Amino acid sequence: MIVGQKHAIGIDLGTTCVRLFVSGKGVAVREPTVVALDVRAGTVKSVGRDARDILGKAPSSIVAVQPVKGGVIADYDMAVALLRELLAPYRRGNGAAIISVPTGITDVERRAVREAVQDAGVAKVYLIAEPIAAAIGAKLPVNRPRANMVIHIGGGRTQVAVLTMGAVVASETVRLGGLDLDEAIVDDLKARYNLLVGGKTAEEIKKQIGSAYPTGMMDISQVQGRNLANGLPETVSVTSKEVMDALATPMVQILDAVKSTLSRLSPDLSGDLLQYGAVLTGGTALLSGLSELISQVTGFPVRVALSPEDCVANGIGFVSGHFRALRQVLSQEEDRIR
Ligand SMILES: Nc1ncnc2c1ncn2[C@@H]1O[C@H](COP(=O)(O)OP(=O)(O)OP(=O)(O)O)[C@@H](O)[C@H]1O
Ligand SMILES: [Mg+2]
Repeated sequence: MIVGQKHAIGIDLGTTCVRLFVSGKGVAVREPTVVALDVRAGTVKSVGRDARDILGKAPSSIVAVQPVKGGVIADYDMAVALLRELLAPYRRGNGAAIISVPTGITDVERRAVREAVQDAGVAKVYLIAEPIAAAIGAKLPVNRPRANMVIHIGGGRTQVAVLTMGAVVASETVRLGGLDLDEAIVDDLKARYNLLVGGKTAEEIKKQIGSAYPTGMMDISQVQGRNLANGLPETVSVTSKEVMDALATPMVQILDAVKSTLSRLSPDLSGDLLQYGAVLTGGTALLSGLSELISQVTGFPVRVALSPEDCVANGIGFVSGHFRALRQVLSQEEDRIR
């Protein structure tokens, strides 16, 4: 018996951001995946934005924890605390929830996701594969007998999948996402200028002047950090070409995932891609030049979905609203646990 599926809350528990889809409201919550703990009192001080703002700046009595790493739960209790807090205003009774899980994770990791939502107070939990949710959220006709290719790149994981008739027929996943691009920029500035910058600064540089493919424009950003030789604060001019070079290695890993997925397709589905192309979803889809790079390497069109960072949450919301018709895309194992 399915309880309250019409009002199932949609949950996308990402490495950097938690999104909740609430029926009638759409994506109602977008909060950083961070929990701040008061170590002395042993209590949760804040979650989401408030907790994120103190990352790297808190006194030793407060610890900010990021409970999801590479798309999987790394700190179970903190993940439960975060979900409990964020779900509280939207829960109707014990209710039901649909939560996305990345492809290529272990059964233990999947079980942790389900149990975390249950421990946060939700009675009935359904799982959906993240690339399926992303494809539905990007409005691809996933139930049709044709290749639907989605390249989903979040903060901690890249998932490439081809779907036909509601099922994934080829997929590849790499534990690499936007945070790794930030790290590549941090490493490059260290090597090139002896300049140490934090992750937030690197992310800003990436969004402002980062690109995956030459755009023909030369942008420059003034970057502040700490000189590693003398320990003093310093400002350095960084060019878009330098940032593109810094991102080259992670780009190769993303392209390898795409190519390896393509190599496993039947000739008919492969041929479809020349016509239909692929769609990019996830926050990292917004990286300038990424669709051009993938299109240039694969030879078929690649487009960025509308609001790519919200595609998974929107896809879950769509499934929740069409529960009977789309039930088959949800994990069938829910009744084996509890
Ligand atoms: N304009 C932009 N250019 C490049 N990257 C961007 C841009 N906007 C957001 N991002 C990146 O998108 C990433 C977050 O994407 P998203 O919210 O899809 O990830 P997530 O769901 O938290 O992680 P995951 O699904 O991998 O567990 C961050 O690394 C962020 O820096
Ligand atoms: Mg995500």
